[in-house]
Amino acid sequence: MTTPTITLNNGTIIPQLGFGTFQVFADDAVETVGTALDVGFRHIDTAQGYGNEEEVGEAIANSGLAREEVYVTSKLTNSMHARDDALRSFDETLTKLRLDRLDLFLIHWPLPTRYNGDFVSTWKVMLELIEDGRLTSAGVSNFEPEHLTRIIDATGISPAVNQIEAHPYFHNDDARRASRSHGIAVEAWGPLAKGEALGDPVVRDIAAEINRAPSQVVLRWHIQRGDIVFPKSNHRERMIENLAVFDFELTDDQVARIDALDKGEAGRQGPNPNTFDRV
Ligand SMILES: NC(=O)c1ccc[n+]([C@@H]2O[C@H](COP(=O)([O-])OP(=O)(O)OC[C@H]3O[C@@H](n4cnc5c(N)ncnc54)[C@H](OP(=O)(O)O)[C@@H]3O)[C@@H](O)[C@H]2O)c1
Repeated sequence: MTTPTITLNNGTIIPQLGFGTFQVFADDAVETVGTALDVGFRHIDTAQGYGNEEEVGEAIANSGLAREEVYVTSKLTNSMHARDDALRSFDETLTKLRLDRLDLFLIHWPLPTRYNGDFVSTWKVMLELIEDGRLTSAGVSNFEPEHLTRIIDATGISPAVNQIEAHPYFHNDDARRASRSHGIAVEAWGPLAKGEALGDPVVRDIAAEINRAPSQVVLRWHIQRGDIVFPKSNHRERMIENLAVFDFELTDDQVARIDALDKGEAGRQGPNPNTFDRV
């Protein structure tokens, strides 16, 4: 089954479904990411902060896939926002991933209460990396609407993506709408609500109606919202299941029933980007 692509605002394309590697720990990462590539994932989402870039790089190298067949994202970690640190850490990311060019690099968190609230300078460094030729697309993660406005007003350049928490219990539609209004593609992190959504009676009922796994129902809901997703799993069978979401559709009624699970802010599982400050 071929994974559809989304065209980003710089004309490049990204597979709409990928493989997430948060908490794919270094000890298992070569094997786990290798399995993900083996079952057919062609988009890997990692981060400097996940501590597994080296293993992701090894798994990609071991796969024998051509460079252009695998889309790779990493993220600038919170302690590296200062220009020199960001440039040096990007070099390290490329070395660890064994790549000479990265597809997508994101500012992991805006950290509005750190660095004198200056994430604009960090955004300018991301743009420098594109100029330098070793980064194809620059984006952000966990940016709220006002954070997006600030970096775009200051530079005139919109990020290619905004990677934000989004799942049935937390739609995060304000940040999604703001991103879309600037032509920024939305990436939904924690798409399965860390697995919690899979036990939901509404999700399970729909899964039974259409003879699909709960994970497929939730991922399909994201796909029909037009977002990019990258579920994480350590299990081969689950990876295979998570990939198989392009040969069926949810009806409007099924979508509406999942939509109704939104708990607003109470459904957020991760930190609030306005206050998160861990470096
Ligand atoms: N930008 C950010 O700040 C940020 C934050 C968090 C995550 N992310 C990215 O988003 C990715 C996905 O989010 P996430 O890893 O936090 O959570 P997630 O993908 O929503 O959920 C992962 C959980 O669901 C389980 N699972 C996966 N597929 C399943 C299936 N088919 N059936 C049953 N259980 C299944 C996994 O268990 P097993 O592994 O045991 O199968 C794991 O416990 C991350 O890996 C990372 O790349 C980004």
